[in-house]
Amino acid sequence: TAPDITLNSGTTIPQLGLGVWQATNDETERAVRSALDDAGYRHIDTAAAYGNEEGVGRALAGSPVPREDVFLTTKLWNSDQGYEPALKAFDASLQRLGTDYVDLYLIHWPLQNDERLLRTWDALEKIAESGRAKAIGVCNFEPRHLQLLVDRGGMLPAVDQVELHPHLPQHAIRSFAADHGIAVESWSPLGGTSNSGWGPNSKPNTLLVDPIITRIADRHSKSAAQVLIRWHLQNGLIVIPKSVHEDRIAQNIDVFDFELTDLDISEIETLDDGTRVGAHPDELNIGAPD
Ligand code: A2P
Repeated sequence: TAPDITLNSGTTIPQLGLGVWQATNDETERAVRSALDDAGYRHIDTAAAYGNEEGVGRALAGSPVPREDVFLTTKLWNSDQGYEPALKAFDASLQRLGTDYVDLYLIHWPLQNDERLLRTWDALEKIAESGRAKAIGVCNFEPRHLQLLVDRGGMLPAVDQVELHPHLPQHAIRSFAADHGIAVESWSPLGGTSNSGWGPNSKPNTLLVDPIITRIADRHSKSAAQVLIRWHLQNGLIVIPKSVHEDRIAQNIDVFDFELTDLDISEIETLDDGTRVGAHPDELNIGAPD
């Protein structure tokens, strides 16, 4: 199983978890059951906007693995930003998840209204103080957004979950986060879905078939996905590869019997070209309240 990382909240998070973006409730329920019951995952990452919190809830209720052994993350959708809306949205998420607390509650996107963002953070701080979220954090925050929270005083995010993979290693965010004790989580760690990008300037995933990655995979008799996951782990990042296939779910956590060499890592570093599979935070305002 995956090693733990200690967050600035004092709680620990398994460094490897299961992502479930773009999976239906039924697919999610099956994927989470297979991850918890068979593959040994203890960390699940969902979001209100994924529309599958109920599927996660059903899996948690049905699994022999006790709730308290699972690190559960969900996220606040854009349309629920603001103080009162965020408190309400959190209650609705708990209800759909069938639990009375989450381990981590995240703001999904910063959007473009700093005042409202700070009110949203006030609400998350209140939720954390009530103990119903063991830790709170953010997603897709650039250093500028993190600085708003540093200047505000009070609680800092435990994590910043951002698009991060060898094409987009996010050095500026990682260095800001390290300076402030904020852990970084990688979304689309394998380079995202293979069919198409969804941001205005995004590109389809080519990492899983990239010749540099597949050559390294051959050297270790491992898969391209396993090499990419090792790259995140060895960089100290929290990684949440998504799959709804039992064999891939198992494969993606079977990464603790090999290590990338310095040569492997320096070859992977040549892939940094800044390309994204998702939106740049400054370009995204989907669902923002008026
Ligand atoms: P699927 O759910 O059909 O397995 P990311 O985590 O970077 O967003 O990307 C995950 C994408 O890669 C998903 O489309 C997922 O599809 C696929 N995937 C996940 N694990 C593997 C694997 N081990 N080998 C190949 N493809 C994978």
